[in-house]
Amino acid sequence: MITSPDPEGREPAAATIFVCTTCRRKRDDMPLGYDLPGAGLAEALDREVAARGLAQLTVTPVECLAVCRRPCTVAFAGPGKWTHLVGDLDAEAHVGDIVTAALAFARSADGIVPWMERPQSIRSGGIARVPPVGFKSKT
Ligand code: FES
Repeated sequence: MITSPDPEGREPAAATIFVCTTCRRKRDDMPLGYDLPGAGLAEALDREVAARGLAQLTVTPVECLAVCRRPCTVAFAGPGKWTHLVGDLDAEAHVGDIVTAALAFARSADGIVPWMERPQSIRSGGIARVPPVGFKSKT
């Protein structure tokens, strides 16, 4: 698991990718009629982050993000930033998209990434965004 701060002095962790490991994905070929793809997704993300030396990202498995009907589900969170909840992600096909989105999120000042900079899977899987603690509306 990647943790910060990085011993080589690189950019400190700016984003956490929370990954639900308990979502059930319907699978008629499995004995119980479902599998749990989130654990594999968390491991794949962890490998990708480590392989690319992305010390600004942390991958953290979590049991349930309360979006159980839209596996795989992840959340992007960081200090002082809006938190984004995204579902309908494929554990194999969307690893790169999730890392791309997390890097854009980490670079952002407030967690709001322009729509056009979000991979298509992240756009279409958007579920919710939640402001950071202490947020005050400008209106
Ligand atoms: S079990 Fe994954 S969001 Fe609830």
